[in-house]
Amino acid sequence: MRLVLYRPVHVAVVQSWLDDPEIRANTPVPEPAPADHAANWLTRFGDEGAWVVLDGDADGDAAEVVGWACAPVLDLVRGEAELGYQVAPTHRGRGVATFALRELTDWAFAKGVHRIQLHINNANAASQAVARTCGYSYEGTKRESYLKQGQRVDTQLWSRLVSDPNPMESRAADAYGQGMKS
Ligand SMILES: CC(C)(COP(=O)(O)OP(=O)(O)OC[C@H]1O[C@@H](n2cnc3c(N)ncnc32)[C@H](O)[C@@H]1OP(=O)(O)O)[C@@H](O)C(=O)NCCC(=O)NCCS
Repeated sequence: MRLVLYRPVHVAVVQSWLDDPEIRANTPVPEPAPADHAANWLTRFGDEGAWVVLDGDADGDAAEVVGWACAPVLDLVRGEAELGYQVAPTHRGRGVATFALRELTDWAFAKGVHRIQLHINNANAASQAVARTCGYSYEGTKRESYLKQGQRVDTQLWSRLVSDPNPMESRAADAYGQGMKS
């Protein structure tokens, strides 16, 4: 898998996911999704604020678009960022979101960000698992902070600081330690 910047060539496939029930329930995409919603993200997120996850070795058309991710907040003065992600309904449960969040976390810290936030629907256990795997910590619940499908629901705030442990490094250290013992 690899992340590439979101471009006009990706719009149609991303737009095709937007009526998926999980995306409707767990992201700010309006309901029904306007026909030009994914196209508008090109403008909303600019040159370096949205990406797609491509699956497959080939470049260009042969690689399949399996995920989308964004940085709705990137404030290099305050050192703060917020990230978001969604995965094609047919490609869930294969590590796509974990890959995207891990890569974008590294990207934001490399830019000088100190703190990254995620807002996750209280009922979205899969996204919470992704955050945990990528080294984010649960900070608390924002009560009735999210108006979706006519109801106000709680959202969870998760964060990772640049000084927090990188789970990828600790996994590598564990593997090294096990290797030394055997
Ligand atoms: C949430 C979402 C992004 C996850 O994408 P994904 O590519 O399937 O995620 P991954 O395969 O990387 O990881 C999924 C994790 O959730 C876990 N999971 C999946 N369904 C779960 C459930 N119902 N309860 C608890 N955990 C669950 C998996 O076991 C896995 O955790 P693990 O790595 O510890 O085993 C995807 O379901 C999605 O696009 N949902 C709609 C949009 C959305 O919710 N975006 C996030 C907004 S915060």
